[in-house]
Amino acid sequence: MARIAVIGTGYVGLTTGACFAHLGHDVVCADIDEAKVESLRKGIVPIVERDLDRFVTEGIASGKLSFVVGAREASKDCEFHYLCVPTPQGPDGAADLSYLEAAAAEIAPVLPTGSVVVNKSTVPVGSTGLVASVMGRNDVEVVSNPEFLREGTALDDFLNPDRVVIGARDQEAAIRVAGLYNRVHAPVMVTDPISAETIKYASNAFLASKLSFVNAIANLCEAVGADVNDVVLGMGYDRRIGKEFLRPGPGWGGSCFPKDTIALAKIAEDHGYDFTFLREVLKVNDEQFDRTAAKVIDALGDSPEGKQVACWGLTFKAGTDDLRQSPAVEVMKRVEAAGVKIRAYDPVVSSPIGDLPTAEIVSDPYAATDGAEVLVVLTEWDEFRWLDFDKVAENMASKVVVDARNLLDRSQLERRGFDYRGIGR
Ligand code: UGA
Repeated sequence: MARIAVIGTGYVGLTTGACFAHLGHDVVCADIDEAKVESLRKGIVPIVERDLDRFVTEGIASGKLSFVVGAREASKDCEFHYLCVPTPQGPDGAADLSYLEAAAAEIAPVLPTGSVVVNKSTVPVGSTGLVASVMGRNDVEVVSNPEFLREGTALDDFLNPDRVVIGARDQEAAIRVAGLYNRVHAPVMVTDPISAETIKYASNAFLASKLSFVNAIANLCEAVGADVNDVVLGMGYDRRIGKEFLRPGPGWGGSCFPKDTIALAKIAEDHGYDFTFLREVLKVNDEQFDRTAAKVIDALGDSPEGKQVACWGLTFKAGTDDLRQSPAVEVMKRVEAAGVKIRAYDPVVSSPIGDLPTAEIVSDPYAATDGAEVLVVLTEWDEFRWLDFDKVAENMASKVVVDARNLLDRSQLERRGFDYRGIGR
């Protein structure tokens, strides 16, 4: 079992640290935020992620997982150093590497000879080389080991991945990193660092493209009178297409797809390739936000201004409390701009949202529907399916539902007199 430093305790770092500890390694997680480190030491996890708090508590109890302030403190006696710091979108669309460079520079002087630095953060093609040059340590290898973790199922994705990708110039370093995953049953693919970095971006961009395609098909279904739910079911039986990632919606979002897709288009541009396909994928997504907002505004009739809309769901998908680049928020920003009053409910959101300054956040799904002319469902929380729609009907001023996730039971709602408007059906 290895001694691993994990630098950065965001979604990726905390999941990586907790899962490596679960696999039996000795893990030290570092963050610059002292208060966060203090809470993590007590097992308090600041994000909603299934099983993460349990894994952290178990790791602390077994002595396999600890938390320290500062990357140097973690790295000084470790054999592997996982860089899991944020790479936010910079002003020109390219990823901002300042956190990565700062972390690399900070640990460089204390790295034990022969240790391996591993890039887990999503970094532009060529960043493994950049980290190596920032550190200037010939006795330390830098390897790329991208993550493919979905928020909400991140621990399961780590422990039961479709593949482990390792990008290394040095074969021995690659084998050592592969050894960390000995107890994980998945194909391990070893390639060069640039290819590994490209695999990460290409995977996210492909999935985002799949979703833009499905949303465009949903729009086509509306035009020709087909039902997209049946269309994607029929498509998904084809093993070359696959059943997953075919759900239409209000557009895709989150902390990764928008950032990574924009960054890949920028990487291509910087290397002289005009990735028009990817730019269209992004455009289709923006149009999907517009179309979904227009559906809500249209459902309000001739003069939407001042009318009341109930919104169910604000996070970028179910199973997370993450609001970053949330399609729900994108759609409601457009609805708010039309002068519509919003009362919103989300099971994990209780504070006001900066991007929706006039929206009232309530702690009960029924309260959101009080006096509303339209109910819009924007995040696919399962609990929405099981609510009492007789009560919802009584609460609402007019019974119109825009179901932007095709989540609710259409016939059940229509039986209760609702005007049901889904996506692509
Ligand atoms: C995504 C990738 O799925 C992970 O493999 C990757 O590791 C991660 O980004 C990352 O780069 O860190 P995540 O952002 O957590 O994971 O969320 P997804 O489950 O991929 O969903 C992204 C968006 O697509 C959400 O808005 C979701 O609602 C939407 N979506 C997803 C659909 O509209 N339909 C679907 O069928 C699936």
